[in-house]
Amino acid sequence: MLSAEKNQLLTQVGPGTPMGEYLRRYWHPVAGASEFDDKAVRPIRLFGEDLVLFKSLSGQYGLIQRRCPHRNADLAFGFVEQDGLRCAYHGWEFGSNGACLHQPFEEIVDADARLRKKTTVKAYEVREKAGMLWAYMGPAPAPELPDWELFNFRNGFAQAVFAELPCNWFQCQENSIDPIHFEWTHNNWTARQHDSHAEYVPTHLKTQYEEFEHGFVYKRLRASETEQNPMWTVGRVTLWPNAFYLGHHFEWRVPIDDENTLSVLWVFSRVPREQEPYVQQRIPSWYGPLYDENGAWITSHVANQDFAAWVGQGRITDRTKETLGASDRGIVMLRKRFFDELDAVAAGAEPKGLIRDPAANHDVPLPSACRDEMIDGLPRAELDRHPLLGPYLRDFIGQAGQPEQVRADYEQAIGQKTQRAKFFIVHGASANAATNDPARVESTDQSASR
Ligand code: FES
Ligand SMILES: [Fe+2]
Repeated sequence: MLSAEKNQLLTQVGPGTPMGEYLRRYWHPVAGASEFDDKAVRPIRLFGEDLVLFKSLSGQYGLIQRRCPHRNADLAFGFVEQDGLRCAYHGWEFGSNGACLHQPFEEIVDADARLRKKTTVKAYEVREKAGMLWAYMGPAPAPELPDWELFNFRNGFAQAVFAELPCNWFQCQENSIDPIHFEWTHNNWTARQHDSHAEYVPTHLKTQYEEFEHGFVYKRLRASETEQNPMWTVGRVTLWPNAFYLGHHFEWRVPIDDENTLSVLWVFSRVPREQEPYVQQRIPSWYGPLYDENGAWITSHVANQDFAAWVGQGRITDRTKETLGASDRGIVMLRKRFFDELDAVAAGAEPKGLIRDPAANHDVPLPSACRDEMIDGLPRAELDRHPLLGPYLRDFIGQAGQPEQVRADYEQAIGQKTQRAKFFIVHGASANAATNDPARVESTDQSASR
């Protein structure tokens, strides 16, 4: 339980708020690069600011304020030029650095362009990496945009998957240090959706949380697993400040404003060794729906189950009304670390985990329970049996709504058809006690979805 004031400290992300200013000191994925294959301009809201994201004719990205400083027209209606974005109302043009590049009529009447030279817009740095566009909205100089080693693994099919969630970012991020929910949200709830008499999976016996440079590691041990299980020996990463790393995919929770969050999944699926060498030409990106055609929440896929849990906590969950227990030890640690960070940064300290040295920013490793398999690959049969990677070989269990073209490209990459399952039964431990595997996911009910 927290005071209302402390809850506000964690959840308010607009300009000038302590958390908003803190998070702006990190790079955040904000869009898919492939979105700009067939358009050049789109509006975007980040950290409570309305902005436009554009790709100039020369291929440079820009992120600038949405309102034109002339008479407040919406620059989302603008069109791109060689080096900037031009307002569709009176033609003022702005570069990605925020400079005004052209004021057509003003420069006719004043050859010295005095008004243009005085005019600027708010602009933030944007870079493309791993098929995503990343924004830096903090004070200069920007830190390094992390070069996580998963971005550079070969022989895999990557995809960037987005969703806009109507809830605050912090309740999403708390999920990154909440191992117990996996058993209930992804195991037992799925099983009971499928069969109301399904048995529960083996329960968690203990959890452990350790802090390191780039966040926390959480570890968990379930009944029927041994302490050699990689979920206990290695665990998963609560990636600082607003992400989750699971060895084969990342999840980011990027604040749109206090009440909305951009969920970003970046999933890397290793192709079977039989398909090597495989070189992906273009990382696709797509947005998934939250509701089905009847307006009901989608609760079949892993991320959609999480979304339902987070949004269900309330738009900005009221932490004055919680009842925390032993399962929340990690969450308490996470909150405390943020409060300490806000104090430290206010006193002039460097935020946690920023990479400043370019020489140190190559293939930055993170703890992973499946690192060897991701690097070395596995024969098809072994990959299929792998508790973490097998499910993603058989189908895209991550989030609902994968476009057909992405599925087709993926099937070509892996050299087999996916199952098009309607539900995914995620086994926690019972089926894999013998192999000491942390999780097993099987897709079922294939006939129902064909
Ligand atoms: S409002 Fe944009 S140029 Fe006039
Ligand atoms: Fe989850």
